[in-house]
Amino acid sequence: ATQISSELTKVLYTNDQIQERLTELAAQIDEKYRGKDLLLIGVLNGAVMVMADLSRHLATHLQMDWMAISSYGSGTQSSGVVRILKDLNTDIEGRHVLVVEDIIDTGLTLAYLIQNLNSRKPASLEIMTMFRKPDALSSPVDVAYVGFDLPNEFVVGYGLDYAGRYRNLTDVGTLAPHVYS
Ligand code: PRP
Ligand code: MN
Ligand code: MG
Repeated sequence: ATQISSELTKVLYTNDQIQERLTELAAQIDEKYRGKDLLLIGVLNGAVMVMADLSRHLATHLQMDWMAISSYGSGTQSSGVVRILKDLNTDIEGRHVLVVEDIIDTGLTLAYLIQNLNSRKPASLEIMTMFRKPDALSSPVDVAYVGFDLPNEFVVGYGLDYAGRYRNLTDVGTLAPHVYS
């Protein structure tokens, strides 16, 4: 079988670049939450990789929880109509919460999630994303920590999938056209 890493036509960010950026962001996050107890909320499935890596770059005391959500509607585009497939195990009232995402594209998923989480009365609520697409810039959701901005291309790796695959690539890049055909 073909090695999946050979199916990237272009590497946009290597794992080394990702880890270096995470070190920088972790220092900012440690500074911000100094002396506080932090709850990281990962959005399944894409955020698994960034959660695992970011959390290990942090020195702050933290706990992790996970939400699985599905946005559905016409075609492959996120509709903003979001269904909770798996809710948090934790009560976040009074907690300092940082939502961890792999990517923000339209921003619709996060707009829903932030509204939903805010209604649970956390002490604070911020967002960290490893990647951000151009459309996200017009989203009303404020993102405190961004790893890298991506061009408007279909990218996979480091949690980002095509039909559920390629999440386990350590680098992030664009897929070879023959994969689609
Ligand atoms: C992807 C990604 C974000 C969301 C961003 O998740 O991981 O959670 O889409 O899109 P948006 O900003 O346009 O709403 P997806 O729904 O594909 O599920 P997955 O994490 O399991 O891949
Ligand atoms: Mn996701
Ligand atoms: Mg996906």
